[in-house]
Amino acid sequence: MFKRNILITGGAGFIGSHVVRLFVNRYPEYRIVNLDKLTYAGNLENLKDVENAPNYVFVRGDICDYERMLLLFREYGIDGVIHLAAESHVDRSIRDPFTFAKTNVLGTLSLLQAAKTCWEGNYADKKFYHISTDEVYGALAFDGTFFTEQTRYDPHSPYSASKASSDHFVRAFHDTYGMPTIVTNCSNNYGPYQFPEKLIPLFINNIRQGKPLPVYGKGENVRDWLYVEDHARAIDLIFHKGKVADTYNIGGFNEWKNIDLVRVLVRTVDKLLGKPEGTSDRLITYVADRAGHDLRYAIDSSKLKNELGWEPSVRFERGIEMTVEWYFENQTWLDHVVSGEYENYYRNMYGKSSC
Ligand code: NAD
Ligand code: TYD
Repeated sequence: MFKRNILITGGAGFIGSHVVRLFVNRYPEYRIVNLDKLTYAGNLENLKDVENAPNYVFVRGDICDYERMLLLFREYGIDGVIHLAAESHVDRSIRDPFTFAKTNVLGTLSLLQAAKTCWEGNYADKKFYHISTDEVYGALAFDGTFFTEQTRYDPHSPYSASKASSDHFVRAFHDTYGMPTIVTNCSNNYGPYQFPEKLIPLFINNIRQGKPLPVYGKGENVRDWLYVEDHARAIDLIFHKGKVADTYNIGGFNEWKNIDLVRVLVRTVDKLLGKPEGTSDRLITYVADRAGHDLRYAIDSSKLKNELGWEPSVRFERGIEMTVEWYFENQTWLDHVVSGEYENYYRNMYGKSSC
């Protein structure tokens, strides 16, 4: 009855929820199966607007559970996978690397193996698309260079090491078994529905509440920032038009030193609160640096532009304004996340507490 049955993993997370929303709305002829374990980072309130769509199914489950994944592939006749489920926060990976290896490495392997078993070598019209990060490439100096698709992997944090390992497994399934895989490596995303442990939502919330803004080290580290809906658009394009077995870098050509970005946030939030410019500067607090803190990320996404015509569409200053406005307008979402109440949403929706 559906033209395609697409499994999106991690669809209750930040980027995943934008991808689910885009696919559910744009492709009514596809069935979108959102598989998510609902860890602390998974929040079904991110998807309220599509939860009753006729082409949307939510399944609570763990990608590490191979038998369950196999059943899921068979039950829904999955022919395409967009794999976003992961542990995603570098600071947590420093405290608890095992969970990152388990979910990001073994979970990805379990999904690959379930796809391979279910597809039985019949790879016509099948696709396994793995979403990864630019952090696998390591760190750049302040020398104007960029990560390209040819840059050698050199991960430094337990998070990036686990993502690098999962990328290698995905490519190995193409090279060994002929599975049609694609890997993309994207820079830092920002926008609505990001869990407020990451820099931008954490600081928006803190400025609003007059709490300190903990800037690691001297705030000199540089990240390339991309508006999350631009990433979701790239994922849609690459899923449909990307070359099998290929890799694409996705980025914003938008580098910001952390401290400069924090000043933009302070200015934007103060303006929206009606406070004179500079009021919240006093909240900026330099704290101990993150262990192994990568100095600079910068991504060259010209291959994606040249081959598939994708470019970021949201200018950074506008993207930050839209993001700050979104967090202001969605205080209930934020309150529920901060209080933990969001975890009840699944129980209220589905009437049970576990899978
Ligand atoms: P997120 O932490 O917001 O969401 C991750 C989702 O995965 C959550 O819904 C969580 O419940 C789910 N999940 C975790 N473990 C699971 C498991 N074992 N089984 C099933 N579901 C599980 O992450 P995000 O920021 O949306 O990132 C999504 C993907 O994009 C990740 O693979 C990440 O590495 C990659 N990525 C993120 C960024 C970024 O800036 N956030 C940049 C580049 C790439
Ligand atoms: P983050 O949002 O955690 O993304 P990533 O580490 O994956 O790049 O952090 C973005 C940058 O902001 C990174 O250089 C670390 C820095 N940072 C702080 O200075 N203070 C904070 O409280 C956080 C969470 C991050």
